[in-house]
Amino acid sequence: MTPSGTSPGTAPGRPLVVLLSGPNLNLLGEREPAVYGKETLDDHVAAATAEADASGLALEHHQTNHEGELVELVHGARGRAHAIVVNAGALSHYSWALHDALASFDGVVVELHLSNPAAREPFRHTSVVAPVSDGSIAGFGGLGYRLAVQAVARMVAATKAGSGT
Ligand code: DQA
Repeated sequence: MTPSGTSPGTAPGRPLVVLLSGPNLNLLGEREPAVYGKETLDDHVAAATAEADASGLALEHHQTNHEGELVELVHGARGRAHAIVVNAGALSHYSWALHDALASFDGVVVELHLSNPAAREPFRHTSVVAPVSDGSIAGFGGLGYRLAVQAVARMVAATKAGSGT
């Protein structure tokens, strides 16, 4: 299956953030609303896009239920995007292929979760994404999407200031 993708915030000249959504996140709004809330993935993408626009960033979003496609989406961000924000769903807890792909990305990586996996079942306490991320945002529900883009904006600005560009 082809991963679904949108690029509502794409604008030439703006640093690009690639937002990646892993398995089952297409079901947000219907899936376990007591845990993940009633907002849909489209709602979260809209919030992240609004935050990116306000921060002078472009944002592109892709969702896939397939591990290999998520790996290829990370490869596709290489050399093109300044940052990846990734909510990898359950793949966060065991996909070493995703870990290795993210390790190959030369930019900011933010791990994102709606819930707080550390406060849930033991299998969610391991993250293979965290060791290859600059930081993680978890447990703030939909607000996390805005926080993740804000973190990226700060880090990209700091990098530019540091490089003198
Ligand atoms: C999640 C947490 C994961 O443990 C879970 O498998 C998900 C969603 C979150 O956003 O809270 O699918 O990544």
